[in-house]
Amino acid sequence: MFPCDFAWGAGTAAYQIEGGWQADGKGPSIWDTFCHEKGRVFGEQNGDVACNSYELWEKDLECIQQLGLTHYRLSLSWARLLPDGTTRHINQKGLQYYNKVIDDLLTCNVSPMVTLYHFDLPQALQDQGGWKSPGIATLFDSYAKFCFQTFGDRVKLWITINEPYVCAKLGHEDGIHAPGLKEPGLAAYLVGHNMLRAHAMAWHSYNSFYRTEQKGAVSLAINSDWLEPSRAGCAEDIAATERSLAFTLGWFAWPVFVTGDYPEIMRSAIDAQSKKFGYSGSSRLPSFSKDEPAILGTADFFALNYYTSRKVEPGGGCGETLCMKSDRDAGEVLDPSWPICGVSWLAVVPHGLRKLLKYIKDTFNNPAVYITENGFSQVGPLQTEDVQRSEFYKDTIFEVAKAIQEDGVNVRGYFAWSLLDNFEWADGFSVRFGLFHVDFADAKLRRTMYLSGQEYVKMILKYKSAQST
Ligand code: GAL
Repeated sequence: MFPCDFAWGAGTAAYQIEGGWQADGKGPSIWDTFCHEKGRVFGEQNGDVACNSYELWEKDLECIQQLGLTHYRLSLSWARLLPDGTTRHINQKGLQYYNKVIDDLLTCNVSPMVTLYHFDLPQALQDQGGWKSPGIATLFDSYAKFCFQTFGDRVKLWITINEPYVCAKLGHEDGIHAPGLKEPGLAAYLVGHNMLRAHAMAWHSYNSFYRTEQKGAVSLAINSDWLEPSRAGCAEDIAATERSLAFTLGWFAWPVFVTGDYPEIMRSAIDAQSKKFGYSGSSRLPSFSKDEPAILGTADFFALNYYTSRKVEPGGGCGETLCMKSDRDAGEVLDPSWPICGVSWLAVVPHGLRKLLKYIKDTFNNPAVYITENGFSQVGPLQTEDVQRSEFYKDTIFEVAKAIQEDGVNVRGYFAWSLLDNFEWADGFSVRFGLFHVDFADAKLRRTMYLSGQEYVKMILKYKSAQST
C-alpha cells in the first residue's frame, strides 16, 4: 500500500534541539534574542542548551537507528554556518558539525531532508530589517546557494523555508514568536511576501546551477489545518471556510502551485478592509514584480505540515483596527467531537489529514506530497506509556494509507514531529512532542523511547514488509 521507496521519517529543528547557542563561533539568532528577553517564553526558558544535540548528535543518531527510520529531517542553523548571515564569513566549526551529521546519516543508510530555515534568522540580519526588508531575499538566496554547493552532493531533499505562515503571523502580527513584532495587518503580509520571493530565488538557483548534477528536489513546508464549515450546508460558513483556506494554505500554495500570485479572495478581502478602515497606503498585500524570478512552479513536491482540524464560521475580527483576522473575517471553532488531550490548539483529528491530502491533490494538480510534520504533544505529568499518542500515530498513518490507496494521493513520505522532546517555542519545554523522552533535569539529557516511539517502530516494520512483498 505504501510505495517501496516511501520515506519513513521524523523531524527536528536546529534551535529546538541543538543548544550550543554561542559554541565555536556561532552567531546569535532571533530566537536567542527573543528567549533572553523577559516574559517571552513559558517559564523564561530558552534553547541555550535544549537537547544539546550540538554535542550529543551521536545520541540522536542512536535514536534514529532505534526507530528504523529511512529519513531524518533536520534544519541548519543559518547563524551557526554564517554568523552574520552573509557568506563573507563562514564558520568552519558549524560546517564540520553539519558535515558530520549528514555523513553519519548516510553511513547508517538514512537519507537527510534538510530545511534551510526553521524560524531562526541570524540576529545580524534582523538588525537590518529581517524578513520585512526586501533585501532579505537575495541574502537568503546566497545562503541557500552556499548550502546547495556545500551539502548538495549528499542531500537530495531540501526545504527552503519552514512554515512561512507561522513566521509571518506569530512573529510579526501576534508577536508571540521571534522577532516578537506586533504590527497587525501589515508586517505579516510583507514578511510572507519576502519569504515567497526568497524561496523562489533559491529554487531557481538550485534549478539553474545544481539540479543537473545533484538531482535533488526542493520545496517549502506549508502548514495547514483541515478546515470545514461549522454548519454543514450553511452558505456563510462555507464562504468563511474558503476565506480561511485562502488566508492560510492558499497564501503560500496558490502562488507556488497555481497562479504565481495570491488567491483572489485574499487580495479582494484585504483591499475591502483597507477601504473600510480608511487605510490609504499602497496595498497591504504586496505584488510580485515581473522583473524577479517567477514564483509559479517553484516546488518539486508539496511539503505539508499537518497537526489539526477546525470548523469555521464568519467573524473573529479585532474591532476598529486593521488586522489579519478582520481581513479574513473567519473564525475557527472547536468541534466537541474532536478530542483535545494535549496542547489546547491541537484537536486530535487523524481523518482530517486524509481530507486535506485529497484537497491538495485536487487543488494543486496532484503533486507528490511529503508530510513533513505531523504529531501530537503531551502536557502535564509525564507518561512514558503514552497510549493516546500511540493510538494517534496508528490512526493517522492508517489515514495516510487510505489517502494513497483509495484517493490516489501521491504521498511519498511521512515525518513524525518530533524525534525528541525539545524546545517547543513559546511553550518552552512544557510541551513534549518527542518519540523519545528527553530528561531535561539530567545532566546527560538522557533520551528514552516512548511507547509511541515503539509503536512507530512496529508500524514502519509492518508497512515496510508489506511494501516489499
Ligand atoms: C510547527 C513547527 C515545529 C513544531 C511544531 C509543533 O509549527 O514547525 O517546529 O514546533 O509546530 O508545534
